[in-house]
Amino acid sequence: MVAEAASFDARAETWDEDPMKTARAEAVAAAMYAGARWQPGMRGLEFGCGTGLLSFALRDRFDAVVMADTSAGMLDVLRRKIAGSNAVGLEPRLLEVGAGGLADTLAGERVDMIFSLMTLHHVPDTDGILAQFAEALPVGGQLCIADLDAEDGSFHAHDPSVHNGFDRAALERQLVAAGFGAVRFSTVFSIAKGTPVREYPVFLMIAEKR
Ligand SMILES: C[S@@+](CC[C@H](N)C(=O)[O-])C[C@H]1O[C@@H](n2cnc3c(N)ncnc32)[C@H](O)[C@@H]1O
Repeated sequence: MVAEAASFDARAETWDEDPMKTARAEAVAAAMYAGARWQPGMRGLEFGCGTGLLSFALRDRFDAVVMADTSAGMLDVLRRKIAGSNAVGLEPRLLEVGAGGLADTLAGERVDMIFSLMTLHHVPDTDGILAQFAEALPVGGQLCIADLDAEDGSFHAHDPSVHNGFDRAALERQLVAAGFGAVRFSTVFSIAKGTPVREYPVFLMIAEKR
């Protein structure tokens, strides 16, 4: 995991140069606008925010967003972006893997929605992180996860340290077991990658804490 954070550190400076990543975040934001419940004064948590592409696309919807990531390099880029913008309420925070997790990161702050893009597949213990999401949200709080549909491992060149996307039915069972309901999935984007080019669909899952 430390090695993975270093790998994202090294990619942070050029992360936003790939227009696909911005298009992906904007597609997920549009699907969240359409599919989630919104009200004034909401507080969000973006898990695995990277350089903040998704939170920037959603920032008008929240009073405040805690932006958590394990990569200090990603957060350095994010802090510069925030400083150079007129964004308010965006709060980068370094997540220490193996420490107190999200509970320590949030330190009791209220969060109405947790959202995440292309990060769940990097977390080895899916059940463990879903349990942390459930603990951080109040009843009725929303969880929005965008990630890869199940694939054959070619997306990450068969790297055994990541999940090869997610089977929707299996992930729904894990969400229900963690305390979520009203689980719904939609396909919101497709990543073209490799030679020859292959398409990797990206889902958006929205659920509510029971
Ligand atoms: C594929 S990138 C996606 C970044 C951003 N969400 C985007 O769509 O541009 C995955 C991000 O998850 C972060 N990450 C990896 N493992 C993590 C973990 N266990 N907890 C939180 N963030 C993690 C990485 O540092 C990286 O910023």
